[in-house]
Amino acid sequence: MAKRIGVLLSGRGSNFEALAESVEAGRIPDAEIAIVVSNREGAEGIEKARRRGLDARVIPSKGLEREAYDKLVVAALLEKKIDLVCLAGYMRLLSPHFVTAFPNRILNIHPSLLPAFPGLESQRQALEHGAKFSGCTVHFVDENLDAGPIVLQACVAILDGDTPETLAERILLEEHRIYTEAVRIVLEGRYRMEGRRVLLNAPKGEGGK
Ligand code: GAR
Repeated sequence: MAKRIGVLLSGRGSNFEALAESVEAGRIPDAEIAIVVSNREGAEGIEKARRRGLDARVIPSKGLEREAYDKLVVAALLEKKIDLVCLAGYMRLLSPHFVTAFPNRILNIHPSLLPAFPGLESQRQALEHGAKFSGCTVHFVDENLDAGPIVLQACVAILDGDTPETLAERILLEEHRIYTEAVRIVLEGRYRMEGRRVLLNAPKGEGGK
């Protein structure tokens, strides 16, 4: 049976689109995007999901405590029998309730080489720090900010003339590429956990052990 992916986003949704295209093109085989959820009304990503004919829902977070909100989102994901949750520009910390509902089944993409430059405006942080390389990270999500075990990373050189925008643009290309690759690895169970190390190339089916 096709694995069911749930995507959570808050904004533009280019990582969502990259995943949707990879599913369509068979780069993520035997999978479907079963639901897309945004915490923000008017998120561009939700419009993109609707145009693709996907189940796209806005569950507004405004005014709700973190856990009360997460219960609504978790209920929607469980109702849709989601196997893997992909955060794609989802600008919220997850509560323990959310994380324990999907153990090792939530991925996030972040625009830096974690643990450097977590949080907001990571590309600006990297530039202002004077780093020569930055990049992006796909990691499992725990209840801490940008902190869970790392699945894949890609490196991007920082050029003298870069602005946060030009750097973000080059990092984004790598984000789209490695998110697809990481989702495939995780759905196919081609990894093994050793403490917080995610060892790749494990025989199929070992994932999560
Ligand atoms: C992406 O660069 C993603 O890595 C970042 O937000 C952007 C969303 O773009 N996420 C974070 O900073 C999470 N800490 P998108 O909506 O076009 O995918």
